[in-house]
Amino acid sequence: MKNTIENNKQKWDKDYHWHHHGDEWDGQAVYCNQNYEAWKHSLVEHLILPHVNETTTALEIAPGHGRWSGVLADRVDKLIIADVSPSCIDHCKKMLADKSHVEFHVNDGKTLNVIPDQSIDFVWSFDSFVHIDKPTTASYISEISRVLKTGGKAILHHPGRSHSFLWLGFIRHWGEIGKQLYKFISMHRISDHDGWRANISAKMIRDLAGKNRLIVVDQLQYWDSGKKFGVPRFNDRLTLFEKQP
Ligand SMILES: C[S@@+](CC[C@H](N)C(=O)[O-])C[C@H]1O[C@@H](n2cnc3c(N)ncnc32)[C@H](O)[C@@H]1O
Repeated sequence: MKNTIENNKQKWDKDYHWHHHGDEWDGQAVYCNQNYEAWKHSLVEHLILPHVNETTTALEIAPGHGRWSGVLADRVDKLIIADVSPSCIDHCKKMLADKSHVEFHVNDGKTLNVIPDQSIDFVWSFDSFVHIDKPTTASYISEISRVLKTGGKAILHHPGRSHSFLWLGFIRHWGEIGKQLYKFISMHRISDHDGWRANISAKMIRDLAGKNRLIVVDQLQYWDSGKKFGVPRFNDRLTLFEKQP
């Protein structure tokens, strides 16, 4: 199944059951040999808390059922969340009903039209761009650059397929054998499925940043110095961007 806006909307809005509202996705923690709660705590400590405080205006793209939205909402001055799925936004509205500083938007899956230029300090998106195709990711990176204030930061979790083999990505639509073969070639993984990862590399993200006045401050697989906590499953990456003047 291709990583289009329509397929993402169908999957997350209609087909998926959200058993534990996103906390069922413990695969990265398991791959790191870590307890899920410890992994989640470490992620919040290393990736979210350093970038937010009581004066921050934050934007979360594709929050799903709000696995990270509550953490953000409790720490910032204003939180805007945008997701292509109406049912996900409905869930977040109920979950954050008592937070008057949170704005909710169902968007078109590629733009952030309702958000003014240079109004955001911090953009966060986890476990969502991993499923989003290149044209849509390119549109969002341009939009992130538009809405960020100068010096503002963004963190996106995205695939880290081998850049030199991206051209072969078409074979993953040749049934299960093509998908497995391309997973091996582009992720260097034998076991496991391909996590419905889009055909995106870390270099592609750096190139898109460069075209959009975003500096890549860091690209990580593990966020702690001991390399105990991260997103190594499916060879994913996290990119930290900063908006240039
Ligand atoms: C796997 S869930 C992750 C949810 C949440 N970020 C988390 O970590 O628990 C993917 C989310 O991305 C949203 N999504 C997928 N494609 C999108 C797009 N093009 N624009 C906005 N949201 C999108 C889905 O609706 C869903 O809520």
